[in-house]
Order: sequence, then C-alpha cells, then structure tokens
Amino acid sequence: MSSKIQAVKGMNDLLPTAQKDWPIDSAFWQAFEREAARWMKDYAYRFIRTPMIEPTALFVRSIGEETDVVGKEMYTFDDYGESLSLRPEGTASCLRAVVEHNLLYNAPQKLWYMGAMFRHEKPQKGRYRQFHQLGVEALGFAGADTDAEIIAMCADLWQRLGILDCVQLELNCLGNRDERAAHRAALVAYLQQHEAILDEDGKRRLHTNPLRVLDTKNPALQDMANNAPRLLDFLGEDSRHHYAALKNLLNALGIAFVENPRLVRGLDYYNATVFEWTTDKLGAQGTICGGGRYDGLIEELGGKPTPSIGFAMGIERLLLLVHEHGCLQTDAAPEVYAMYQGDAAAAALLQAAQSLRAAGFAVLTHGSNQKLATQFKKADACGARFGLIVGESEAAADEVTLKDLRGEHGQVTVPAAQAVLQLQQWKA
Ligand code: HAM
Repeated sequence: MSSKIQAVKGMNDLLPTAQKDWPIDSAFWQAFEREAARWMKDYAYRFIRTPMIEPTALFVRSIGEETDVVGKEMYTFDDYGESLSLRPEGTASCLRAVVEHNLLYNAPQKLWYMGAMFRHEKPQKGRYRQFHQLGVEALGFAGADTDAEIIAMCADLWQRLGILDCVQLELNCLGNRDERAAHRAALVAYLQQHEAILDEDGKRRLHTNPLRVLDTKNPALQDMANNAPRLLDFLGEDSRHHYAALKNLLNALGIAFVENPRLVRGLDYYNATVFEWTTDKLGAQGTICGGGRYDGLIEELGGKPTPSIGFAMGIERLLLLVHEHGCLQTDAAPEVYAMYQGDAAAAALLQAAQSLRAAGFAVLTHGSNQKLATQFKKADACGARFGLIVGESEAAADEVTLKDLRGEHGQVTVPAAQAVLQLQQWKA
C-alpha cells in the first residue's frame, strides 16, 4: 500500500463530523454562514468575491512591506515571470476590485466578503496557515457615525451568536499621517534610549515599525512600553474630535469599550479609528475580529480619495468561541429517511423522495436494499424525524408508508400522492 498523503500543516479540512482536535463540523460552519448572510442583509451590505491570488505588489503597497504579514508570512510564487501571492487578508483585494471596476464612481459602497486567507504563521490553536475571514468594508464614509455603526454591527452579531458576554472591545485612535510621523520621531528617540533592553524583535522593529515595538508581549518590556510617548498626545483637533464623537456614540448605544493606546494592528494602512474584539476564552489567539479606518488606501491603490472603514473576523476563532460558549442552530439532520425493500420498490422510493424534496423536505435515502431493521437503525442514528418506507407491495399499489420516528403519530400507509400532505400535517 502506498503511504498516505496528509494536508499541509496549518491547513484544515472541514468535515461533516467533528474531530477530537477540531470540534466544528460542516453543519455548524454552514449554520454560521447562513446567520452571517442574514446579518449582512439586515445592514444592507452587498456581497463581493475576489480571486484568492493577486499580484504581490497589491499587498506590498497596501499592507506594507515592513509588516510581518507581507515581510514574513505571505505565500508568494513566481508565475511565469510575474510575482503572485495568496491573499493574506481581504481588504486589499476588495479595494483592488472596487478601483478596477470603478464601483465608487457615483455612490459609496457597503461590501462584505467571506473566504480563505493564507499566512505562513506557526500553527497553534486559533492560528492557521489557511484560515477564513468574514470581512466588511464601508467605502466613502467619513463620519464617526459609520465607525460606530460598524462596531455596533459586530456587537449585534455577537449578541445573535450568544457570545457578547465573552468578548471585549478595545479601541484606539491612530491619528493622521503627520500626527503619526511626529509621534514616530518621539518614539524612536525614546526607544533608542532603551535600545539596550530591547529584545531581538524590538531591535528589528525600532527603525522599521517602531509602533509595533509597543505591541510586545515580552514581560520585561512592559514598563518601557507603558511609559513610551503616547500617540494620543500627538493627535490634532480633527482626530481628537473624531475619536471623541465615536466614543460618545458608543456610549449612547450602550457598547462597552476599553481604550488601549497600544493597539496598533499589524497592517500599515490604518489611520484614526482602530479596534479589536478580544476574548480570554481561547488562549493566546484571543482576537476574533479587528478593523479600523483606512482613509488613504483607496487613493494609494489608484482610486479617488475615499474615506473608508472596515473589519474582518477570523471564522475559526469565532466558531470555537461560539461552540463552547454561544449558540447556533444547526439543521444537520435530514427530516426524512427514505428506505425501500425489494428491487421492484427502488423506482417508487426515488420518486416519492423527489416529491417530498419538491415540497421542501430534506430527504436522505438509505441507498441500498438492506434488511429494514438495519435501515431503521440508520434512520434513528442520523436524527431524521420521519421515515419513508416503500416495500414491493406498496410499490405495486402506488402507496408509501410513513413513520413518525420521534413523535406520537405512529405509522400509516397512504397513496404516494398524499405523502407530502401527510408529512406536512405531522410537521405542523
Ligand atoms: P487582521 O487583524 O489581520 O485584519 O485579521 C482579522 C482577523 O482574522 C483576526 O482578528 C483573526 O481573528 C483572524 N486571523 C488572522 N490571522 C489568522 C490566522 N493565522 N489564523 C486564524 N485566524 C486569523 C485584517 O485582515 C484586515 N483586513 C481587517 C480589516 C478589514 N480592516 C479593515 N477592513
């Protein structure tokens, strides 16, 4: 026998049954997708799908060359002379498509997407090399009211999924380019004074991405990071006003938040508002959703200046949390389990199953002419509510037998044409 080939490390299968190391099954995932689509419809966001592979330059220009995502984690390859990359996130691709197809020519856009993203990170619980995001982008909206609605939308979804009590909102304001430049100069000077105690990451980031030095988890550097010059102290009038307006709106909406002046995010395109939803219930990978404003990015990608804001959630992390602490109605079990006995009954069974499906019932056929007792065991195990049984005598008489496998209706044999009506009555 040949050796088995395994999936790439950090890239997971989604299976119909839960696994020991992965409790999410495909019915749970699909239930989330349905809930998410309803939620997006309620906010009148429109769906967009872009390719999983883009020119590498798109991510370098938008996310930033010095970020970990672009610098260390992208799956990049040469495609007959052109450098391409698997998308590590969805914002850049979404905006590329919007600019390319001129979607903003006469109106702002509210868009959402869902799909696989790829980052070559060290896999661990909640961190994968192929993971899935649901992302939302509101393009052409400058006001803090949109920031507030974007954040309130998340809170609404957490509420629908029963995890609002498990998450915390962290908020920061990154100001504009000039404010960040002034802060950066002060920060670099401060970090240089403390260069001797910086770890390897810190030393590397000191000149490439000094804000990220403050993001350190190293306990020995916390005092240094806490006392560093704060970006908030460098904000001008407009940035302060925007941030204050957002906080007022969140308070008015009853959305609790924690201000985290060290929240900088790992992608370079942000300005003004940034936020993350975190949980302490998933271990080290506790950020389930992150986002913020990127007022300059569309112009950077060749479009007109368009103030915008968005976020993306990691679906794996979110569903791990929902699975353990929230609620999500799945409908994994078929409603009807269809069985037949005797070769002459096969066609009648398949026809009866089709008419039930046409009436909206989900029907699973057993698929072979086994002993009825064996078929009933399977019907029971799969959770179906009703049994549809066709034997040779029923087939000859154009009848079917229906059995209520879970309730009090018992079993009846009816003309095949009445099966739908009968099950509808039982179901009601
Ligand atoms: P991000 O913070 O890089 O932002 O990713 C968003 C979310 O994706 C994270 O909060 C996390 O839940 C999930 N995630 C990231 N990396 C992994 C991984 N390796 N394994 C599992 N989950 C992961 C963005 O991607 C921005 N595009 C969000 C955005 C949209 N900002 C504005 N619009």
